[in-house]
Order: sequence, then C-alpha cells, then structure tokens
Amino acid sequence: MRKNIVAGNWKMNTTVPEGVQLAKEVKDAVAQVADLKCDVVVGVPFTHLTAVKSVLEGGKVLLSAENCADHEKGAYTGEVSAPMVASTGADYAILGHSERRGYYNETIEMLKTKVDLALAAGLKVIFCCGESLDERKSGMYFEIIKEEIMGSLFHLDADAFANIVIAYEPIWAIGTGETATADQAEEIHAFIRKLIADKYGAQVADDTTILYGGSCKPSNAAELFAKPDIDGGLIGGASLKAADFLGIVTAF
Ligand code: PGA
Repeated sequence: MRKNIVAGNWKMNTTVPEGVQLAKEVKDAVAQVADLKCDVVVGVPFTHLTAVKSVLEGGKVLLSAENCADHEKGAYTGEVSAPMVASTGADYAILGHSERRGYYNETIEMLKTKVDLALAAGLKVIFCCGESLDERKSGMYFEIIKEEIMGSLFHLDADAFANIVIAYEPIWAIGTGETATADQAEEIHAFIRKLIADKYGAQVADDTTILYGGSCKPSNAAELFAKPDIDGGLIGGASLKAADFLGIVTAF
C-alpha cells in the first residue's frame, strides 16, 4: 500500500536558528497527533540539514534537501552533492522543482542525472513536475508532464522507481494563492498513475505516492487529499508556520 506524505518545502527561507526553531515546533506538533495518517517531511536549505537533523532525532518527522548537484564530487564550486546530502542523515531530496527548472535552467536530462545520483547515495526523491499557465491554456499540459516524467524517471527499473515520490505542481498555482481545484489535480494525478502503470505495471503504479503542490493550505487540503489519486502534498508557504503545516498534516 502506498504512503500518504505531507512534505514541507521551505525554499530559501529562514536562517539556521529560525529553521531549527521551526523544525522543533513541527516535531513537537507532529508528536501530539494521536492518529497520524501520513509521513511528514521537512525540506530545508542545505545549510540547515545537519542542525535540523539533530532536532528531528527521536521524532517522526523526516528530512529532505531541496536539490542536489548533477555531479558526484569534484571541482564544482558552490555545489552540494547527493552523497553530501545523504551524509547529513537526510532521507529525501526534492528534485525538479519548477523554480529550479525555471531560474536555474535545469533540464530533463540534467534531472535524470540528479535522480540517479540521489538514488545511488541512498536518498529517496520527491520529483516535481507541472505545467505553466500558457501550457495549461494551450491544452499541452498532459504532454509536458509526460515528457518530464518519462525523460527523467522512466530509465529506472521498478526497484529503483520504488524510491520515487512524484509531486504534481502546476506552476500557475505555486505561491499564487490560486490552487488547482481538487478535480483539476485529480485529473493529472490519475493521468500520472496511468503513465506509471503503462510503464511499470498496475502494482507499482498503485504503490507510488503522488503529491499535489501549489497553494495547498489547511483550508483546501482535506478536499484535495480526499481524491483517490492524491496522496498528500508538497507545501511551500504554508510549511513555514508550524500551525498551518500541522493543519495540512491532519487533513487526511
Ligand atoms: P506553495 O509552494 O505552497 O507556496 O504554493 C509549493 C511548492 O512550490 O512546492
């Protein structure tokens, strides 16, 4: 059976002390939830990984990086490799976020490499995909999502693919306050699950966690998570306040 997951994506927010404080609040709040129905992950800046890892020790909250390099090691000044991320004790890396694709020119091919390096380092991957507003309006969005998933993930064998979580994040809904409706999101989630079924078979598709991201908040999470193919969320803005994040964690 597939897992439900609620993952925070802090993006480029919080200093280390602020992040440590937020992680403490999230850990304590999650510990209070009697009937936790999902895995909880916090995605934090590289600089925060080690400190946040110590805070999370002994609790239920898992740790993610927001990226990793497309090389394993060497002369790549300023980059942070997948083995470095894994050595902090992180469980996941978020890869292919639209902000990375858009602002830092990450391509399908580069992300394929990053996925391989993250998995080789023992990390699980939260792999983001999603269309822009123009692509949605033009009706091209199924093609865009298919290309992103096939191009960066479908070289994996089924065993490796078991370590992939997919996050559908329509770019027009990220940070805009405009959420995809539950029906719009479900349409894409079902499409993604079908792609996986066609490639890896029904069992693998059924076991794959597919998250929704884009202005998900306590007020709309329950309706989104009630859909059969929406297994949780990747949360930006609302992950920066422990109370809001908890409101989403408990929305199942
Ligand atoms: P948002 O961001 O929740 O602030 O819209 C989601 C994301 O980019 O992962």
